[in-house]
Amino acid sequence: MFTFCHDDDSQRRLAFSASLIAVLPVIYLVYRKVFATNQGPSRNSPAGSSNSTAASLAAQGQAPNAQKRETKSIMQPAKTDLAPPKDDPFTLEQLKEFNGSDPTKPIYVSIKGTVFDVSHKNDVYGAGKSYNVFAGTDGSRGLGMSSLKLEDAVPDYSVLDEKDMKTLNDWHDFFKKRYNIVGRVTDLPLTVVPPNL
Ligand code: HEM
Repeated sequence: MFTFCHDDDSQRRLAFSASLIAVLPVIYLVYRKVFATNQGPSRNSPAGSSNSTAASLAAQGQAPNAQKRETKSIMQPAKTDLAPPKDDPFTLEQLKEFNGSDPTKPIYVSIKGTVFDVSHKNDVYGAGKSYNVFAGTDGSRGLGMSSLKLEDAVPDYSVLDEKDMKTLNDWHDFFKKRYNIVGRVTDLPLTVVPPNL
């Protein structure tokens, strides 16, 4: 007669295999939960959706989850040799000159009116590169919206909701820790100019 278990030994083996099958998914889920914060940064925001993501910490210049374990970020690390910030005035028109189309000129990106020299990342901001849309302009709105559309790369970020505003501010912090400040935009739209200026 056909039977699965003909003695105590095979019954024990079967019971052991069954409990392994039941326990393995639980171990996997616990593992995922414990290491959830080390999954790497959100790709289109320095902060992702929460304050404790790897990218958010990277934007703050810290190793993600630094206290617990070392992890790698795909974002460039913060710089320790930045020059003192400069306050040179730029109009939006003047900024266009530094959009990466002339390889002899530096590349500038403005965020909330702060002009950063991003020349050393011409691999992403140079002509035809992924983030060239932000070069030679102030594309604060697009940064906040995580949008690479040309029409979103405009200085008026007053339309952003709280979440997008946080994303924009995280980008500003990210750039402040990685790029030299070379000046400020003097003709931002009135909607985003602080009232005392
Ligand atoms: C599928 C979508 C995306 C992927 C795979 C991606 C991937 C990446 C990677 C790998 C980096 C690091 C680049 C480097 O340091 O060389 C990066 C940086 C960056 N990403 Fe994205 N990204 C995506 C979408 C976006 C979007 C929609 C935005 C719009 C705001 C964006 C804005 C940026 C910016 C501003 C940086 C910082 C570059 C720097 O100055 O170091 N990304 N992204």
